[in-house]
Amino acid sequence: MTTHITSGSAVLEARGFCKSLGGKRILNDVSLRVNKGEMKVLIGPSGAGKSTFLQCINYLIPPDEGVLFLNGTPVAPSVKRELYALRERVGMIFQDFNLFDHLTVQENVSIALVKVKGMNRGAAALRAMEELERVGLSRRASVYPAQLSGGQKQRVAIARALAMDPEVILLDEPTSALDPELVGEVSAVIRELARGGMTMILATHQMEFARALATEILFMDRGEIIERGAPAELLASGGNTRTRAFFCKLAAEEGAC
Ligand SMILES: Nc1ncnc2c1ncn2[C@@H]1O[C@H](COP(=O)(O)OP(=O)(O)OP(=O)(O)O)[C@@H](O)[C@H]1O
Ligand SMILES: [Mg+2]
Repeated sequence: MTTHITSGSAVLEARGFCKSLGGKRILNDVSLRVNKGEMKVLIGPSGAGKSTFLQCINYLIPPDEGVLFLNGTPVAPSVKRELYALRERVGMIFQDFNLFDHLTVQENVSIALVKVKGMNRGAAALRAMEELERVGLSRRASVYPAQLSGGQKQRVAIARALAMDPEVILLDEPTSALDPELVGEVSAVIRELARGGMTMILATHQMEFARALATEILFMDRGEIIERGAPAELLASGGNTRTRAFFCKLAAEEGAC
């Protein structure tokens, strides 16, 4: 019983994560909890450690220190089987899509269902089509990624993550590699997921999006979370937070704020 430490109703909790890379401290005691249906948004300057933190949560990079809890149970994958099990439960969306170029859209979504979940090909193909329908791409199922726009590629990546039935999805700047006119279609899919109760942790520079959707904003700088709170609290007009200063700096580039 001693190893089963409850964390309230948190679907995922990262507690006290530290990471050094190349002799440099990249994460310094970073913690986060996310409850079912919440969206936590990581913001902060380039190099703050947002991507490193998300990759540590998914054990793409194992943290040096800290404990990951899923539904209150500590998880410390050390062998491949455990890593795969973790990544089934915690999906990840990358900035640059990470699709398999030699597979069709549908195969990109169904391959892990066959190889990881052990589903038969027919059932996996059906499930893939359902997820592609959800992101509005069922009609592109038989094409290859090279034939898609960036926004479409990212929607395939989202469908692929959803097909695994994850408990949480981590999104690392899912729209920052996209041409401005393609951002909206991906944002709309993420907004729909939030509305549907998906639990998510999102790193983004899209401040308006963060303001509209975040349950909580976490402002990172130099490997630490230095502010956290509800968007209304951190972004209140006339407020004096680092988050608001950062927001205004980005907004000033667009002539707002
Ligand atoms: N493999 C590595 N070796 C050494 N330093 C690294 C390595 N990977 C990342 N870093 C450093 O870690 C710091 C945090 O990087 P990270 O990519 O997590 O920041 P970020 O907040 O995601 O930034 P951005 O907003 O630009 O995506 C940076 O200073 C980066 O140079
Ligand atoms: Mg990053």
